[in-house]
Amino acid sequence: MAKIYESITELVGKTPLLEIKNYEKKHNLNSKILVKLEYYNPNQSVKDRIALAMVEDAEKKGLLKPGYTIIETTSGNTGIGLAAIAATKGYKFRVYIQDQVSRERFQVIKAFGGETIKLSEEPAVARVLEETDGDFVAAIKALREEVLSKEKDIFFVDQVSNPANPAIHEATTGPEIWEDTNGKVDILVANVGTGGTVSGAGKYLKSKNPDIKVVAIQPGPNSLPSDANPEPEEITGVHPFEGIPVERVPSTMNLNIYDEKFEVETIQAYEAARDVAKTDGILVGTSSGAAIYAATQIAKRPENAGKTIVAVLPDTGLRYLSTNLFNKEFLG
Ligand SMILES: Cc1ncc(COP(=O)(O)O)c(C=O)c1O
Repeated sequence: MAKIYESITELVGKTPLLEIKNYEKKHNLNSKILVKLEYYNPNQSVKDRIALAMVEDAEKKGLLKPGYTIIETTSGNTGIGLAAIAATKGYKFRVYIQDQVSRERFQVIKAFGGETIKLSEEPAVARVLEETDGDFVAAIKALREEVLSKEKDIFFVDQVSNPANPAIHEATTGPEIWEDTNGKVDILVANVGTGGTVSGAGKYLKSKNPDIKVVAIQPGPNSLPSDANPEPEEITGVHPFEGIPVERVPSTMNLNIYDEKFEVETIQAYEAARDVAKTDGILVGTSSGAAIYAATQIAKRPENAGKTIVAVLPDTGLRYLSTNLFNKEFLG
């Protein structure tokens, strides 16, 4: 039977689960680590799922019509996913990106015909960040209000408050993990940016088996800006959800879904991502490294012997070639 797809929208999701056998052996693990390779999505990240879901949800609700411009603020992958979906569906696309995001991401969005604007160049954002001492959620809200008041025929996606974000993980990511493991999964490990992945997939898995433990990753204290270290190397796309004012947590993050919060430092994430490239031939980004690091530590706990841990790996390492993840010191 011939199998020919007619749009990249048909290629989103259904990503493979891989047991990282060589890595498990190297680390003498007595439990299984299965990694969900989200770089199998058509634009190499988990964000293709929410990009498609948020666009199609808006189309259904009449919020997005032919001739409109899709607008979003993002640290990158959502922008890339949306730029590609906008291209194939014929919409214009504009994205406001955090300045420290790797060059590759700006280039890819432009290749899809999207417009990129650095967040720091937006006066509304800069003002609110200054006034609130870095409240990103408030800054995005201000930007959104400003754009909506000035322009028409636009759809502001807003992944940090769009319910279609966690909903697609509940409808696809969670069920894929459940089906591919035949329900034999004990622990889910996922990063938290918007919280969509952990909230949606976690909700689905717990609905199938309430004993499944959900572990949510947040950056460790040395990987977040502080007075002593205002510009640390951060884990792209990963943000704290505990220890910060609750109003700064995106509404897409369900604070009741996780059983454990696990802190990972950027350097630990780098080491795990570099390690798994060498042991199992998979090239993933920093947040994927964080998920593997957390899964490894959890696997080493005596009470978890024999258990199956699924770690969601959000994106490809190819998007980090210009960053310190694959710097000269490491590559030689
Ligand atoms: C590279 C990367 N990893 C992980 C995440 C976290 O995923 P989520 O937004 O579903 O919590 C993001 C989100 O921005 C990301 O860009």
